[in-house]
Amino acid sequence: MSKFMDWVDKRYPLTKVWQEHLAQYYAPKNFNFWYFFGSLAMLMLVNQILTGVWLAMNYKPDAGMAFGSIEYIMRDVPGGWILRYMHSVGASMFFIVVYLHMFRGMMYGSYKAPRELLWLIGMVIYLVMMAIAFMGYLLPWGQMSYWGAQVIVNLFSAIPYVGDTVSEWIRGDYVISDATLNRFFAFHFLLPFVLAALVFIHIVALHTVGSNNPDGIEIKKGPKGNRWDKNAPADGIPFHPYYSVKDIMGVVGFLIIFAAFIFFWPEGGGYFLEKPNFEPANPFKTPLHIAPVWYFTPYYAILRAVPSFAGTQIWGVIAMFGAIVMLFLLPWLDRSPVKSIRYKGPIFKAALAIFVVDFLLLGWLGTQPATPVLTQMARVATIIYFAFFLLMPIYSKIDKTKPVPDRVTGH
Ligand code: HEM
Repeated sequence: MSKFMDWVDKRYPLTKVWQEHLAQYYAPKNFNFWYFFGSLAMLMLVNQILTGVWLAMNYKPDAGMAFGSIEYIMRDVPGGWILRYMHSVGASMFFIVVYLHMFRGMMYGSYKAPRELLWLIGMVIYLVMMAIAFMGYLLPWGQMSYWGAQVIVNLFSAIPYVGDTVSEWIRGDYVISDATLNRFFAFHFLLPFVLAALVFIHIVALHTVGSNNPDGIEIKKGPKGNRWDKNAPADGIPFHPYYSVKDIMGVVGFLIIFAAFIFFWPEGGGYFLEKPNFEPANPFKTPLHIAPVWYFTPYYAILRAVPSFAGTQIWGVIAMFGAIVMLFLLPWLDRSPVKSIRYKGPIFKAALAIFVVDFLLLGWLGTQPATPVLTQMARVATIIYFAFFLLMPIYSKIDKTKPVPDRVTGH
C-alpha cells in the first residue's frame, strides 16, 4: 500500500492534499452546533445532483409531457417516488441548512476581515442556488410552476426601455411556454455543477484564512504549539478525525429529520410542494393566489410591499434585489471591533434578534394574499429589514462591546 501511495504521490499530491486539508488542517477546538451546516450543505448539494440526474432519466422537458412524466416517476418508475421526494424535500432542506449556515456567519461575524471574500463567494453561491431552485420549480409544469414563473419573469418587464425585450429573451417567447421549459431544464441541469465548482472555491477561501469560531478569536494569531504540531495554533485540533467524526454525527441527526419528512410529510404542509402544483399548468386559468416557494417569500413580500408609482413596479423590483445586495455589503456595514455575538453589545444583539423575527415575518407575509392589513405589515417589516443593514455602521460602532479573551472558550 505504501509503495502504491509513493507511486501516486510522485504523480499527484494526494497525501499532501489529505494532510494539508484534513489530517493537519487545524480548526478551532470550540466549534458548536452551528458549525454542522457547512458539511450538511455539501451533503445536500450531492443529494440534489444525484437524485436530479436520476430523475432526469425519466423526466420529459416538454410542455405536453412534463406533468405526466412526473406522475409516471411517482407511480410507475421503481423507486421513482423516493427519488422525487428526496429531490423536492431536499431543495427545501438545502435552503434551511444554508439559511442556518448564513445566520451562523451573522452571529459570529464570520463575514468580517479576513473572511470578506469567503462571505462574498457564499453570497454568489446563494444567488446561484436561487436561480437553480427557480428554474427547477417550472419543471413539474403544475399551475404554480407556470404562474409563479410568469409573475417572476414579468418583473423584468419593469426595467425601463429594455424590460420587455429582456423578459422575452428569458422566456424565449411572449409567455411561459415549451421553449421556456426546455431552456430552464438545460440550465437547471447545468448550474448545480457550477455550484459545485463555487463550493470548491468557497473551501479554498476558507482554508486560506482558516475557520472563525463561536468566540470570533483568530486562533492563528494566538499561542502556538499543540499536541500534534509545535508550530500549529494551540487552540486548533486536526480536522480529521475530530471534526470529520463530529460532522458525521451532524449528518446522522440531519438524516433522521430528512427521512421523517420524506416518509411522513413530503409536501411539508404545502410549503415544500404547493397544493396548486398538483394540477397541470393551464395558461387560461390564473390561480387566485400566486406565491413562490417559502425560501423566496421574504423577498417576494418586500417586492409586493413597495407601491407601484406611475404604473411601474420598478421600485418594488429594486427593493427586492436591494434586499439581497444588503447581505453582500455586510462585511463593510458592521463596524464593531469584535466579531462574535458573545462579545457584542446589547444594541447589536437586539438588532440581530429583531432582524430574525422580521425576516421570518416577511417570509410568512410572502405566502399570504396581499390584504390591506398584511400589506401595511409588510411595509413596516421592509423598513425594519433595510434599517437593520443601513443603520448598522452607526449602531455597531456606538455599541458597548465586551473584552474578547485571548484564547477560545474550553481551551
Ligand atoms: C452550497 C452551499 C454552501 C456550502 C456547501 C458551503 C460549505 C461550507 C463549509 C463546508 C464550510 C466550513 C464548515 C462550516 O463552517 O460550517 C463553510 C464555511 C463558511 N461559509 Fe459556506 N457553504 C455554502 C454556502 C454559503 C453561503 C450562502 C454563505 C454566506 C453568504 C456562506 C458563508 C460561509 C462562511 C462565512 C464560512 C466561514 C464560517 C466560519 O468559519 O465561522 N456559505 N461553508
